[in-house]
Amino acid sequence: MEPQDVRHVGVVGCGLMGSGIAEVAARVGIDVTVMEPTEDLLAAGRGRIEASTAKAVDRGKLSAADRDAILSRVRGTTDAAAFAGADLVIEAATEDEQGKLAIFRAVDEVTRPDVILCSNTSSIPIASLGAATSRPDKVIGLHFFNPPPVMGLIEVTPSLLTSEATVAFARGFGERLGKTTVLAKDHAGFIVNRLVIPYLCDAIRLYDEGFATREDIDASVTLGLNHPMGPLRLADLVGLDTVLQIAEVLHKEFRNPAFAPPPRLLRMVAAGRLGRESGQGFYDYA
Ligand code: 3HC
Repeated sequence: MEPQDVRHVGVVGCGLMGSGIAEVAARVGIDVTVMEPTEDLLAAGRGRIEASTAKAVDRGKLSAADRDAILSRVRGTTDAAAFAGADLVIEAATEDEQGKLAIFRAVDEVTRPDVILCSNTSSIPIASLGAATSRPDKVIGLHFFNPPPVMGLIEVTPSLLTSEATVAFARGFGERLGKTTVLAKDHAGFIVNRLVIPYLCDAIRLYDEGFATREDIDASVTLGLNHPMGPLRLADLVGLDTVLQIAEVLHKEFRNPAFAPPPRLLRMVAAGRLGRESGQGFYDYA
C-alpha cells in the first residue's frame, strides 16, 4: 500500500497525543477510529478534538464546514476488533512498556497482515514492540509533537527489524499529513526528547533551588531564546508524568547521571500536579 491509499487509520489512545493525531489524520480526509478502554475516556478524547478544532476555527485556521467534516470522520471504539478494516494503526497510549506490548499483540491479531503498525512512543524500544508482533518488519515509530495539529515535525524511528519499505511508507505518510519527517535511531528519546527532557529537568532543578522564579526562568527562554514557551510552561503542556517517565527511560538507557529526574518532579507527580491537563503544575490552569 502507498501512503496516499490509506483511507482508514486506527489510533490507540485518545489522550493529549492520540486526539491530536486523530485530528491531523481526519484533517487530510482519512477516516479515523480511536480506541480507548472505556466510553468515558472516549468521550473525553472526543471533547479534546472538539476543543482543538473549535480553537482552529476561532483562529481562522479552519472553516466551520471543515471542522464538521473532521469530526464526522472520527469514530470511537472500546474494542480492537474495530481495527479489522484499518489500513494503518498508530498507537498513542500511555508510555508504559507492558501496556504497549499488550496493545501491539492485540492489534497484530485483528489487523490485516500487510498493515503497518506505528507507535507514537518516544521512549519504549520500537524493537520490543515489533518483536511482540508477527510482523516486526512493519512496526515503526512515528513520533508526533504536542500539540500535533500545530507542530510540523514527525520523527520516524525504524528498529533493527523494520524494513526499508516500511520506512519509506512512514515518511510518505508523514508528508501526506503535512509534516516534515526526520529519521532517528531507535534509542530512548530519539532526537527531540533526548535534547528537551534534560533541559526541562534542568529548569525544574533551577526553580527548585530558588535560583530564579518560574516567571523569570520562562521569560529568559521566551525572550532570550525566542522559544514560544519557557521550560516550566512546556513541562506543564507535555505533562509532568510524561516528562518523568521519559527522564527515567533516558537515565536507564544512557546511565548518564545528568538525565536523572529531579526530586521536585517526582514529588509533583506523586502529588498529582501533572500540569495543564490536571489543572495544576508549575502554573495554575483552573
Ligand atoms: N489548531 C490549529 N492551529 C492552532 C491551534 C489549533 N488547535 N492552536 C494554536 N494554533 C496556531 C495559532 O493559530 C498560531 O498560528 P499563527 O502563528 O499562524 O498565528 C500558532 O498555532 C501559535 O498559537 P498562539 O501563539 O496563539 O499560542 P497558543 O497558546 O494557541 O499555542 C503553542 C501554543 C502552539 C503550544 C505554542 O506555545 C508552542 O508551539 N509551544 C511549544 C510546544 C512544543 O515545544 N511542543 C513540543 C513538546 S515535546 C513533545 O511533544 C514530545 C513528547 O514526546 C513529549
